[in-house]
Amino acid sequence: MATIDLSATIGNETFHHPFVNAAGVCDETAPEMQSVLDSAAGGLTTKSATLAPRAGNPKPRYFDTDLGSINSMGLPNQGLAYYLDFIAHTETDKPIDLSVTGTKPADQVAALQQIQASNFTGLCELNLSCPNVVGKPQIGYDLDATRAILDQVCAFYEKPLGVKLPPYFDLQQYDAMAAILNQYPLTYINAINSVGNGLVIDPNTETVVIKPKGGFGGIGGQYIKPVALANVRAFRQRLRPEIKIIGTGGVTTGTDAFELILCGADIVELGTVVMQEGVSAFARITHELETLMQEKGYQTLADFRGHLKTQSN
Ligand code: SIN
Repeated sequence: MATIDLSATIGNETFHHPFVNAAGVCDETAPEMQSVLDSAAGGLTTKSATLAPRAGNPKPRYFDTDLGSINSMGLPNQGLAYYLDFIAHTETDKPIDLSVTGTKPADQVAALQQIQASNFTGLCELNLSCPNVVGKPQIGYDLDATRAILDQVCAFYEKPLGVKLPPYFDLQQYDAMAAILNQYPLTYINAINSVGNGLVIDPNTETVVIKPKGGFGGIGGQYIKPVALANVRAFRQRLRPEIKIIGTGGVTTGTDAFELILCGADIVELGTVVMQEGVSAFARITHELETLMQEKGYQTLADFRGHLKTQSN
């Protein structure tokens, strides 16, 4: 049986396995983050950190359904210093991606200034797409705001930087956003965050299932896989090849991950499936991908990454 190599690189980081938790999943506290590192995950993403700790939105703010989840967490996190400290004191050969955000652009810039001044040299992900901060739009839907924050950040930030994007739904949106992103020295993009401001309703009680924002929240899980596939594919077709892509959204099986990589993802993040199944999902999905690759005769991810075929007339 041929040896399968599941490794992938983003910037200077090598992931021995392509599966990492999505920001916000099993990563708010040190024990949670350690449990991801101790699992079969190929790396860790931290909860999106703000400058100061945040309690997040009122509960209930997360709800599982048969096809996925809805959340309006509101960025509960321990503050940037906590995550920098965790990384500084953690010995691991797995890459740790520091996710960072803010409730206003000035805070996001200030957070990145702190990271630039720190000893941290790993991947940093600027989250431009949280749909759950009450009264604040997702920056990634505002082209001018995206350009403005990247102008500010790229003027001083010299470490490997990625951006987490919201889902886009129109080909012209991909054209416009890719044209902006191509102007900056980004190491990667992460597509996609949850599909923002969906609603899940309990028909028995005739009530929404989460409390914040009148029940509106980010949709994750199987519902959103086609949207994630389309976003990864569309950005891979438009971005400079040096800008890598983390594919996120709706992966529950090795075949789902295979499809995202076929669309061009370099590595794959798992969200709702880890919330529902725990960190054992990393080993299961890795095994499923490996088995599928064996069946298809692929030995490395590069053998099929981005090779999605279209139908000819
Ligand atoms: C949240 O904390 O509300 C989720 C984070 C995100 O969607 O970026």
